[in-house]
Amino acid sequence: MTQRKPIVGGNWKMNTNRGVASELSRGVVDGLLHTDGVETVLFPPFPYLLLVRSILRDRGSSIKLGAQDAYPQPDGAFTGEVSIAMLKDCGVQIVLCGHSERRHVLGEKDEFINAKVRAVLEAGLECILCVGETLDERLAGHQDIVTTRQLKTALAEIPGDWLARLTIAYEPVWAIGTGKVATPDDAQAAHKQIREFVGHLYGGEIASRVRIQYGGSLKPGNAADLFAQDDIDGGLIGGASLSAGDFVTICKAAAASARARR
Ligand code: 13P
Repeated sequence: MTQRKPIVGGNWKMNTNRGVASELSRGVVDGLLHTDGVETVLFPPFPYLLLVRSILRDRGSSIKLGAQDAYPQPDGAFTGEVSIAMLKDCGVQIVLCGHSERRHVLGEKDEFINAKVRAVLEAGLECILCVGETLDERLAGHQDIVTTRQLKTALAEIPGDWLARLTIAYEPVWAIGTGKVATPDDAQAAHKQIREFVGHLYGGEIASRVRIQYGGSLKPGNAADLFAQDDIDGGLIGGASLSAGDFVTICKAAAASARARR
């Protein structure tokens, strides 16, 4: 079986302030000092990127710096937006694209998300592409149709050799911030289907290497069972990433699951 290093991201969303961002990132760095076997990324709000970067750098941490979003145009009259070049300039290594809150609260469409994924990967950065169905879509039995459509459009014109820098986050919308986590079996089934669809687009070898994270009410108490599933390669964490202790526990659970698979 292909060994994939799990990746765990802390998506702080529109939370924290300067003091909290500083304390939280220090807590995560210190808590993970002796943990390897998991790739960790912090996604602070834009105004705190440089602050978090300086904490990671000062402590020689290998934790990556991520941005929650980016605008696909290189520059120009796009008031309020942030370009990929600006993010790079601030030390960002990885960018979230297509998060469900951007899709459903801010109305981003698959084609726009595709433009972002292309621009991020073209710039040499890594990308986490988020997909996932709403409750109505799941109840109608359309989970696979929805995630397949999201993937197909978001990955249009993305060459296979860029996929090494792409992680997919399966985040069912009904599980985000609700406390209703997908069962390990349901999450595994969705991840397997996503991997198969990547195989259909790019072939089995690329599909076996692409990492697929789970996101949606992932907490210390349910992390190990989710990470034990064959096709779950870490997690994208919202609420629990705002506690350094909880986030560190989740990262350690991902590292332990990778050790158990060896
Ligand atoms: P919660 O962990 O708060 O459900 O959020 C998940 C998420 O949206 C991560 O991007």
